[in-house]
Amino acid sequence: MRIFKIVLVCLAVVFVLIQFVRIDRSNPTIDPSRTIESVVNVPAEIQQIMSRSCNDCHSNKTIYPWYTQIAPVSWWLRDHIDHGREHLNMSEYGGYTPRQQEHKLEEICEQVESGLMPLPSYLIMHRDAALSEDDKKAICDWANAERAKFPRAVQ
Ligand code: HEC
Repeated sequence: MRIFKIVLVCLAVVFVLIQFVRIDRSNPTIDPSRTIESVVNVPAEIQQIMSRSCNDCHSNKTIYPWYTQIAPVSWWLRDHIDHGREHLNMSEYGGYTPRQQEHKLEEICEQVESGLMPLPSYLIMHRDAALSEDDKKAICDWANAERAKFPRAVQ
């Protein structure tokens, strides 16, 4: 019983101490001339799906809820956002080469169709981010239509 109490107190102390390791909860500024909307036609319906299900990790428009203040969950979420943006950032899409832009559209459809995105762990706290079959179809139809507009040489 004594050991159990000591362990519990130690854990509590560690928990309090790690709270001092804060994550950066600011967003990089958005240059409107570099966003995905500046390159590709993104209808309102698609924008809505993206802001509901993708933009927290794939844009500079991340919304940080209260639990992003609590370590170690905060570290784990920071990691998802950094990695997500590294692979695909809707706010920096204009900085990709045309070939990359075309390829990202292909991947968006693939990831959504296969159910890999949005990350399943994200859905625990964001139930409304789950994509219906109609949402998936809308994303893929849109991505394929926009891909087709790239010159053949790019594809
Ligand atoms: C909780 C954060 C999160 C959300 C929400 C999310 N993603 Fe991701 N996404 C990631 C991470 C992290 C990666 C990096 C690859 C990995 O670790 O699986 C990634 C990778 C990707 C990639 C690149 C795959 C590659 O091979 O480069 C695409 C495309 C993608 N996501 C599309 C989407 C779309 C579309 C949505 C919304 C329907 C979405 N993601 C929602 C975190 C997220």
